[in-house]
Amino acid sequence: MNKHVMNEAIGETRLDRATQGVIGKGVDRYEGKLKVSGKAPYAYEHLVGEKVAYGFVVPGPVGRAKVTSIDTMAAQSLAGVLAVVSGDRVMHSSAQPMGPDVPAMKGEIYHYNQPVALVVAESFEIARHAASLVKVEYEALEGRYEIESRRGTGRASDGGPMAADTKRGDFEKAFAAAEVQFDRTYTTPAYHAAAMEPHSSVAKWDGDQLTVWSSCQLLDLNVQQIANGVGIDASKVRLLSPYIGGGFGSKLGIGPDAVLASLGAREVGRPVKLALTRQNVFQATSRRGETIQRVRIGATRDGRITCFAHESETANAEGEGFFEPSGISTVFLYPGSDRLVTHRVVTTDVLTTSAVRAPGEATGMLATESALDELAEMFGIDPIEFRRKNEPEKDPQEDVPFSSRRLLECIDEGAKRFGWSDRPKTPASRREGEWLIGWGMASASRANSLMASSAEIEMDPAGRATVKTSMTDIGTGTYTILQQIAAEMLGLPLDHVDVLLGDTSLPESSGSGGSWGANSAGSSVYVAAEAVVAEFAKRLGVEAETLTLKDGHAISGNRQIPFSEILEGETIRVTGKIEPGDTSNETNQASYGAHFAEVAVNATTGETRVRRLLTVGAAGRILNMKTATSQCYGGQIWGIGYALEEELVVDARNGLIVNHDLAEYHVPVHADVPKLDVVLLEDRDPYASPLAGKGIGELAIAGVGAAINNAIHNATGIRIRDYPVTMDKLL
Ligand code: MOS
Repeated sequence: MNKHVMNEAIGETRLDRATQGVIGKGVDRYEGKLKVSGKAPYAYEHLVGEKVAYGFVVPGPVGRAKVTSIDTMAAQSLAGVLAVVSGDRVMHSSAQPMGPDVPAMKGEIYHYNQPVALVVAESFEIARHAASLVKVEYEALEGRYEIESRRGTGRASDGGPMAADTKRGDFEKAFAAAEVQFDRTYTTPAYHAAAMEPHSSVAKWDGDQLTVWSSCQLLDLNVQQIANGVGIDASKVRLLSPYIGGGFGSKLGIGPDAVLASLGAREVGRPVKLALTRQNVFQATSRRGETIQRVRIGATRDGRITCFAHESETANAEGEGFFEPSGISTVFLYPGSDRLVTHRVVTTDVLTTSAVRAPGEATGMLATESALDELAEMFGIDPIEFRRKNEPEKDPQEDVPFSSRRLLECIDEGAKRFGWSDRPKTPASRREGEWLIGWGMASASRANSLMASSAEIEMDPAGRATVKTSMTDIGTGTYTILQQIAAEMLGLPLDHVDVLLGDTSLPESSGSGGSWGANSAGSSVYVAAEAVVAEFAKRLGVEAETLTLKDGHAISGNRQIPFSEILEGETIRVTGKIEPGDTSNETNQASYGAHFAEVAVNATTGETRVRRLLTVGAAGRILNMKTATSQCYGGQIWGIGYALEEELVVDARNGLIVNHDLAEYHVPVHADVPKLDVVLLEDRDPYASPLAGKGIGELAIAGVGAAINNAIHNATGIRIRDYPVTMDKLL
């Protein structure tokens, strides 16, 4: 990449100097019209009009067992059935949503509804009926379906998203000596990502070449997973995922549909379409692990935190390294010179766990931000003042500076807008008829990461640009922001820039996950655009630094040359690549925010209504105010779900996920959501990326449920530490 991009001393980049005014603006979605008019094909909607066959999954009928036989006779003799496929590859198909490796499963069922066979038929209806005729015989094995009774038995996983243990100093000693000791345990249930678009795939073979259309977030990993699952080389597979109806982590890895459609298509010699049913999405993709979180905080008598421990136990599945990293923010967010963050994992024979939106912060901050509220109350200090008093100046774990940390500014701005000074000071002191009114607040933080990503910019002889990258748009606005970055950098009107995404034949990208997508893919487009500028400068015989691109013209001194003239009938293609560490790695980088909630709790029924929700965030440069704000609305709504409603219920006797559809797994609906307010501060973080932006996608979900829980306490005087805070717990 260009050297000056890395030079933090410059502080100003071509993006800052650009005059188009396109970057940051809340322009409408690039693909919005296609989506709302039904013209954007989602995974299942490809190959319309071709002679395709339809797959249907035969789900495992038990929580944990060894399969002894699969009787496919009745299914196979049904008219219209083309094949019934079984074997280890079928049973492996949902085994590993995060990693590329296929674990050895040897004909065993590890969770209820794990795929055991696949029926391929002339129609979806025939396939579904045939699947019901497949008889699976098994030898039941003893299963482990909950973690509550196994507290303290967890192990440290070394294959997770962060170290199992992060320590500094001697927490136990400091805690024993602390003037004030706080020790509470919080629990969060298992959750489901519940993306709107079910996991679906269409697979087609041309000789030994496999093309798969699927709904996936990380195409360059996913293509490898499909190849491993099918048992072929990844170079033989092309994966396309141009439009995605939400992923939220559940599509970071492939669903079983991708491998099953591929196996089925190979078996019958025809393209196969396979959509998981909603029930199967709940039972055969992945979940967020339930957590038991102990928070211990030592403080001085006047309310200064001296030591901090956050110890979590969570669940995952057999052979899985991933765990819900609840302490991920705790490591740097809270002060204390003696610190301890641990994660222990208990294996359960339930659906694989994986990342669900803001893995770590989403559950961890439900606990820690409630704990801070409890502590502030113990000290009789306003929760905002308590946070101000305990704001660390640098990363308390690593002793390095924060690249930028505007947490207190977010809190202050939020307090002003929310009218925090009118907060009921005493819990259960404000009442409107039978409704108890309470206000609460919480911090938000989300670690920032930059991932390797590349993109090509093609400029045609007329000076139109096309951005090409295997990046995905999971509903977050990637198409739009990449178009904005390219247009701004290249001095082109928005409608002169096309964006091609979601295809592994395009330059390898970071994919969408962990809130790194916009920054990583966006930076690669930035770097590619710099290369276009350099090429133009070379052709004009001037220094790139002196060149301004605007309205389709290169401006150098008093010369104004149209792009078409510079290109001389040629099409140019340049590739830009960003690597982690290209900007800076000597700071702690995170996005920050603050949430404010007003709730009304019905004194008779225990029903909680969220009346107001305000989030203020600081996440570096905002690339598109509208899509960034929408991401935050999404986070706020998740917060309502996690505070009040969401809970994946597993039957501890047999491992069945009881509420396996959207009728029973409650997510907030319109009636649950008040008018949402989001304010994003003008911000730049020159260490985070060449764009000076940071992750925004998962910021707003972090802490928001705790703000609601804190408001419930302020309304009622009742403190609930077992999420969700349902009506029964408040009566
Ligand atoms: Mo996100 S949970 O990394 O899609």
